[in-house]
Formats: sequence, C-alpha cells, structure tokens
Amino acid sequence: MEAPTILVTGGAGFIGSHTVVALAEAGYRPVVLDNFSNSQQDVLEGLRQILGYEVPCCVADCAHRSALFEAMEREQVRGVIHFAAFKAVGESVREPLRYYRNNLDALLTLVEVMLELGVHDLIFSSSCTVYGEPQQLPVTEASPILPAISPYGNTKQVGEEILRDVVRAGKPLRIISLRYFNPIGAHPSGLIGELPIGVPNNLVPYITQTAAGLRPELVIFGDDYATPDGTCIRDYIHVMDLAEAHVAALRSLERLSALASYYDVFNIGTGQGASVLDVVRAFEDACGLSLPYCIGPRRPGDVAAVYADATKAREQLGWTAHRTLHQALADAWRWEQRLQHLTGSRAKCQ
Ligand code: UD1
Repeated sequence: MEAPTILVTGGAGFIGSHTVVALAEAGYRPVVLDNFSNSQQDVLEGLRQILGYEVPCCVADCAHRSALFEAMEREQVRGVIHFAAFKAVGESVREPLRYYRNNLDALLTLVEVMLELGVHDLIFSSSCTVYGEPQQLPVTEASPILPAISPYGNTKQVGEEILRDVVRAGKPLRIISLRYFNPIGAHPSGLIGELPIGVPNNLVPYITQTAAGLRPELVIFGDDYATPDGTCIRDYIHVMDLAEAHVAALRSLERLSALASYYDVFNIGTGQGASVLDVVRAFEDACGLSLPYCIGPRRPGDVAAVYADATKAREQLGWTAHRTLHQALADAWRWEQRLQHLTGSRAKCQ
C-alpha cells in the first residue's frame, strides 16, 4: 500500500520539521508547505540528511488559497498537520492585527480547502497558553480556559473554537487540537533544531546561546513567584516526543474513520514541572558547563506555574513522553554547537 501523504504546513519550522521526521519514520509521506517567513531553506537539507531523501516542499503561504488547493490536489493529501502560524507572544501584543490576520486566515483557508477537496483529517497546533494562570495543577483538558493574555494566545483559543464549531455543524472533518506545553531540544543528530531569529524569546535557545558565548548571561525573569525556588515552573517536552504525539494523533483519527465528524483536544506534555533554575542546573549537568545567569524582573504576562496532566493522551492516543529534560538539553546544546560550527561566530550584535 502506498504511504499516505500528510501535508505539514509550517513544516520547515521548529516543531514542523521534527514532525516531518516522525511522520517519515512512521511510514507516512510528509509534504512540507511553508512560506519561510520564520524558517530557513537549510532545514530541508537537514531533513534530507536525516531521512536520506528530499522531502517534497511547496513554497507557499497557507492563506494563499489557489496555491494551497493546487498543492493539496497535486500531492493527493490524505491528512493535514497545521503548524503554520506566528508564535511570538510579545510581538503579538505589539502587532495584533498581523497575528489575527496571519493565524486565522491560514486556518480558515485550510479548512475550506480541505472541505472542497474532501480531506478529512486535521491536527491543529494549540498551546497550554489557553489555560492562562491555572487555579489547579496539573491542568487537564477539562481545566477552565481563561481569557488569553496575548493576541497570539487568543489566536490559539479562537482557532480551537472555529474547529469545534465546524465539527459541531456536522462538516465532514475529524480534528484533534494538541495543546503543547514547552517544546525544547532538537533531533539527536544535531541536523535540525530551533532557529530563533534575533534575540531568542524562549528560555532554552537563550541558554544555549549564552553557553555558546553569544549572550553575556541568562536573565531569569523573576525569583519571587510562589513556587519552591521562586522561579516559574513549566512542562518542558522534548520536541521529538511532541513530534511523535502528532503521529499518534493521526493514527487515532484513522481509527476513527467510521465517524464522519470528530473533534477533541489533548494536552501534550511530560506531566513534570521544572523551574527555570531546575532547567539551568539540568543544562549545566547535561552539558558539563557552568552557565552565567542573573535574576531580573518578572516578564509581563508570565504565569507562575503550568504543567500538564497528559493522562488523556496516554489513554486515548497511546502516547506518552519518554525523553528526559537532560536529553532535551543535551540535544539542544548539540544543535547550538552545530549552528556555531556552520556559521562561524554569529554576529554578537543580533
Ligand atoms: C510561551 C507561550 C507559549 C508558547 C511558547 C513558545 C504563554 C503563557 N506561553 O511559553 O504558548 O508556545 O512561548 O513560543 O504565552 N525565561 C527566563 N529568561 C529568558 C527566557 C525565559 O527566565 O530569557 C523564563 C520565563 O519567564 C518562563 C520560562 O523561562 O518562566 C519559559 O519561558 P519561554 O521559553 O519564553 O516559554 P513560555 O513563556 O512558557
């Protein structure tokens, strides 16, 4: 039987590219659709080296209806994993319209084109950001959805609502939204990983760039939270575990193929909370380095603690995270070192 083709929108991005690997390893035929607005063509070379063949790639914006339609028709797409979206929280506060336009246009266009072409299965990238500052930990899928703090977070909430409403209306779609906790790490080959443009917003790329000497020190955003060591707690998940969750979700949709319409959401995390200081220590331990850091003020919009109850994903998708924080940090560091090797010394003034 021919490998089913899965369209991966945003497939050149951080989570997308790792999911391409997981899909190929699971016997699917991934096809990337990306406009390279926040990713680089080199990723395709990394994928080629890992997989041993060139992954088909369509350079297009997901909101470009005719390009999307043609790509999906030509490639005979059987299912879609939709990553293509802007994701910088702070930028979304400054440029809300750009975020709503980009993230929602892409999603609406995709769903319409799927319906036109009779493609039924969709996995949507959502985020634990939909839980805001949770009252109870760990958070389950039944935990309350709180008003989003940022336009970025709101595009995820609204995206989930749009999909739920489309399924409620009886449209022939089977959809799973995956609520990711904090993806970190890189493929263990060191051939693909996270490529932050400019100064990283996220913790782990900031740590690896500091260890590489590109940043003088990590600033820990606050140590006066009501947590055991005063720093924020998150659920850091290895990006390959997260990638494999998409394969598990896709398989689950295939098992549900007797249903005309289906919608559900799953938390994708490890179930373990780690503080910023835990991450710093784990990095030092995993990589045998000492990391310069200082304590700075809180970052507006940060919640004190959030981590997943991922029981539902284990029970219904048969998925569970199995890589450790140490592994994820060692892989992130291997990737950063490879970047340094490739680019020489990256401009320190970025
Ligand atoms: C945010 C978003 C999440 C999104 C993710 C990836 C929220 C609540 N969360 O996660 O939806 O998927 O970004 O874009 O909107 N930290 C430092 N110093 C730094 C950087 C980070 O101390 O230089 C701390 C932060 O205060 C936080 C932790 O590290 O406690 C993780 O931060 P980060 O990696 O930015 O992820 P989140 O803010 O949790």
